[in-house]
Amino acid sequence: TQPTPQWRPVYHFTPAKNWTNDPNGLIYFNGEYHLYNQQNPFENKWGHMSWGHATSKDLLSFKHLPVAIPETIDRDTNWRFSGCVVYDKNNTSGFGKNGAPLVAIYTVAQPNKHLQTQWVAYSNDGGNNYTNYENNPVLNLNKEDFRDPNVRWNEQLKKWVMVVAMPAEHAVRFYSSPNLKDWTLLSEFGNNKEGFHERAWECPFLVQLPVDGNEHNKKWVLFVSSWGSHEGPFMQYFTGDFDGTRFINDNPGTAYLTVDEGNTFYAAIPFNNQPQGREILVGWMVPLKQPTYPWRGQFSIPRDLSLRTTGEGLRLVQQPSAVVTAALAKLPAAKKQVSNNLFINNGSVNLTKGNSFSSNALWIQATFTPGTAKTVGFRLTQNGDSATTVTYTTETGELSIVPVNGEEIHPLKATVKPQNGKLTLEILLDKSTLEVFANNGEKVFTTLVFPGQQAKGLSAFATGGAAKLDVKLFDLDK
Ligand code: FRU
Repeated sequence: TQPTPQWRPVYHFTPAKNWTNDPNGLIYFNGEYHLYNQQNPFENKWGHMSWGHATSKDLLSFKHLPVAIPETIDRDTNWRFSGCVVYDKNNTSGFGKNGAPLVAIYTVAQPNKHLQTQWVAYSNDGGNNYTNYENNPVLNLNKEDFRDPNVRWNEQLKKWVMVVAMPAEHAVRFYSSPNLKDWTLLSEFGNNKEGFHERAWECPFLVQLPVDGNEHNKKWVLFVSSWGSHEGPFMQYFTGDFDGTRFINDNPGTAYLTVDEGNTFYAAIPFNNQPQGREILVGWMVPLKQPTYPWRGQFSIPRDLSLRTTGEGLRLVQQPSAVVTAALAKLPAAKKQVSNNLFINNGSVNLTKGNSFSSNALWIQATFTPGTAKTVGFRLTQNGDSATTVTYTTETGELSIVPVNGEEIHPLKATVKPQNGKLTLEILLDKSTLEVFANNGEKVFTTLVFPGQQAKGLSAFATGGAAKLDVKLFDLDK
């Protein structure tokens, strides 16, 4: 296997080496963001599931640390599947030694026993090492599929509330606990009656998000991952109410709402204990067939979540987190380029500007006024005729992305409605990661691209008429 440094993202998380899938235990603690991840410490493929560990101050650069929760193989194989970490500020668990502990709540999978149960483990050293509670498991339904607990403190109940997946039933369960050890069943949601339920439900979480920027008007939102109808990764969300016992869906069970329009975003969870009270989501980008080496699997950009009232109802909005964008402003002038009022009349504009922006670690903030043009968009990772294209078609309102990935190419498509005649596109290209945030985060596409070494061209285009473009470019290459 050949190393693929040309595809290693520079401002997105990847493990130093080997396989990763889901983000686990995301938490802000003592001035640092902790990212744990479903990791195989030994190989570049799924297996030996353990919790890898990294920390970050800015969510753009990451420090890799030793495995925090390893698999154990004694009489049986115990894999450490997905879960969360909470800060037990009041030491409700009694696990704190010289203060308040961090507590991981996660799934142990015992493949030989066909059993998945929920465990807790605590850390008194700021999240580097965890000790398993002596009376684990804390939840056992004697089921083969029962996993991915996500826990938050609930102010109304003054208790911890867990949401956990019942994958085969296409359901989630809610439990409450005063101490993270004793759990009482509250209710179940789903059971083939809600949303998309053709495939296993995994990695649920429940949060409150501000509506239309109003921090005093928050609404409950339940998120669920499940492999989609087209056999690809898929995440859905439900807006509704959590009354302390059950989740009540705002929408008819027959409807479902899509988190991401791309083909790789999965198993995303938010940070706990975020200091500004933001909900910041990070997802796993499921590796496509194209191999990367010596790592496999990478994470999305952290995204600030909110809700927006649209013509169709309340919809999720995801924007690159303000924690991350703060760093863009600090880049040296040579790494930034602002071009306002670019008129493109049935043609294209080269944006690489004599190679200073010929990089595949770019951050593009663009506003198109499509005007009379039939299509507008960008060509990225361009080399001759080959390019990744982002194309907006004015007549249909369709945004379509065709990634260069050395495989069968499926365009990713969704409809977006420009606001006041303007279409905003925030495009994050990071070697093999591509994320497109349209209409200020109303529609997001996450995908992977595998451009050749020379494929670094960047241009904007308008066909069939004249459009205006304002664009800021940031080069994040090291
Ligand atoms: C999602 C998932 C989780 C599980 C983990 C195992 O990708 O299947 O449901 O906990 O991966 O690695």
